[in-house]
Amino acid sequence: SSKSYEFIQISQPKPGVGQVTLNRPKALNALCTPLINELNEALADLNASSDTSVIILTGSQKAFAAGADIKEMAPLTFAEAYTKSFIESWSSLTTQVKKPIIAAVSGHALGGGCELAMMCDLIYCTENANFGQPEIKLGTLPGAGGSQRLTRAIGKAKAMELILTGKSFSGVEAEKWGIAARVFPTYEALMEETLKTAETIAGYSQVAVQACKEVVNKSQDLALRDGVEYERRVFHSLFGSQDQKIGMKAFAEKKKAEWTHS
Ligand code: HXC
Repeated sequence: SSKSYEFIQISQPKPGVGQVTLNRPKALNALCTPLINELNEALADLNASSDTSVIILTGSQKAFAAGADIKEMAPLTFAEAYTKSFIESWSSLTTQVKKPIIAAVSGHALGGGCELAMMCDLIYCTENANFGQPEIKLGTLPGAGGSQRLTRAIGKAKAMELILTGKSFSGVEAEKWGIAARVFPTYEALMEETLKTAETIAGYSQVAVQACKEVVNKSQDLALRDGVEYERRVFHSLFGSQDQKIGMKAFAEKKKAEWTHS
């Protein structure tokens, strides 16, 4: 993208891989409304761009994001929050982006930062990543999906303890508990392996990739029976793609599939 932003940076580290880097270092990437607006605009562009198959969302080594912007929130009234649907626009990430988003988390991922990471399709992190939902300490609660997504991810017992105490947890724990798919000893390893995974995904049929993302995410919303039925419908629909024919023919002929993404 040729647009220039104040609080984020856009790059293309490899063909097919778009990266959004949160870049508000003075506030440890606190997620003020203008930052979220920029993020949504950038993600919409990457979602529409034929140069991008997979998106990496990251921060700095020190902070993925230290939460919603506390100074912005402090004076909000109920009426303002309610009538302006405060925080609602954060979830456009989960509803408008069909391409997989990988969160690469190093340092602080607190409050809304932890919630933003959990909105992504996949989380990779460093061992010393610092996750948590400390909203209780501010007299509020995880309002960007944290109470729901954390509980689904790690179960009620641990989620309840974390949300009621506000205690943070490490990248090692995030991986052990299943929030993060993988954990790495260093920031360099995190970024390198995130990129490798993004390239792997970008190498497949993007029709299948987007369908896989869709059905896995549906599992979080639907009852098992409905989810299995939903999955089957999408599975059937992929027999209408060229890439299913190409992929299965290539297997039978022991050749590499040349995807058409159609
Ligand atoms: C606004 C923030 C911020 C935040 C950090 N800063 N987090 N500003 N909102 N969430 C600012 C600090 O005010 C400070 O600015 C600068 O970033 C550096 O932070 P320090 O505190 O000096 O850094 P450090 O001592 O290294 O401590 C790091 C930290 C701490 C442990 C992450 O900053 C912290 O506890 N931050 C708040 C974490 C939090 O409570 N997050 C949840 C927010 S509520 P100055 O100007 O002083 O240099 C939330 C609601 C979610 O997310 C519900 C809806 C989304």
